[in-house]
Amino acid sequence: KKAKIVVVGSINIDLVVKSKHIPVAGETVIGQEFATIPGGKGANQAVAAARLGAHVEMVGCVGGDTFGKQMLEQLAHEGVGISYVIKESQQTTGVALIQVQDGENRITIVPGANACVSPEHVENAKSVIADADVLLVQLEIPLETVLRAVQLAKSHGVKVILNPAPAAELPSDIWQYVDLVTPNETEAAILTAGRTNLADESELMGELCSLTKTNVIITQGEKGVTYHINGSSGSYPAFRVPVIDTTAAGDSFNAALAVRHGEGLPLEQSIEFATKAGAITVSRFGAQTSLPTRQEVELFDARN
Ligand code: RIB
Ligand code: NA
Repeated sequence: KKAKIVVVGSINIDLVVKSKHIPVAGETVIGQEFATIPGGKGANQAVAAARLGAHVEMVGCVGGDTFGKQMLEQLAHEGVGISYVIKESQQTTGVALIQVQDGENRITIVPGANACVSPEHVENAKSVIADADVLLVQLEIPLETVLRAVQLAKSHGVKVILNPAPAAELPSDIWQYVDLVTPNETEAAILTAGRTNLADESELMGELCSLTKTNVIITQGEKGVTYHINGSSGSYPAFRVPVIDTTAAGDSFNAALAVRHGEGLPLEQSIEFATKAGAITVSRFGAQTSLPTRQEVELFDARN
């Protein structure tokens, strides 16, 4: 049975510039490559989940510019439901300016229309949220909206996965509505408000568990993931792949978890599939351009 997933989150257009040198103030440099790629953590997770075989509804906002029209068409083309994506004519569509030098990213995000995703907007999507298996949220929209979404989902018995990215401190009253939180190491350290020694993984996990009292998966890139789920701890290694571009690897991982868990597989058992989806995403360029299909994940050779 297909998992029903609702993503309440951001929609961006990624403007990617590759150059050998990133200019400092007052300097002009000649770059080597430019690409416009559909992105935004919310939209990436929605598209990833759709490619992985889920029924997906997106709740979000685009601007009145041509990027907005393009992003709506892209979501629809991927089979993501866009009935709850609103066009805010006075706003610009969210933009992520990604400067790449030596494979390292520097990202500036201008939220634009993403700042308009409101608690009322979430209320209007109440029926689809209540009917979902999993709600997936990130932190590129206003926090009050994230709070409303998780409360609403939880009150209808919908599983809630919070991907706390980009890094932010969160109010402690959010955790009662969250079934799983999935920070990377930096995000985990910020969630614990610097109370822990980042280098000490078990301390970080311990602190997060006592803070959130919910399930935790910490993603650690090439080191794999560590988790604390339903009272038991464990880890899962990453697959070795050529690293082309890590953009959207976290999005792919979260969407894959949501899809398998939404299909009824226990969380621990969903980690392998999610790790494979993340690995494929790392081995390809760009955000939505790098998200795998269900078949690609299932055929992924774990030995390579
Ligand atoms: O997670 C990757 C995404 O983060 C990019 O697509 C970019 O839009 C930023 O929001
Ligand atoms: Na990628």
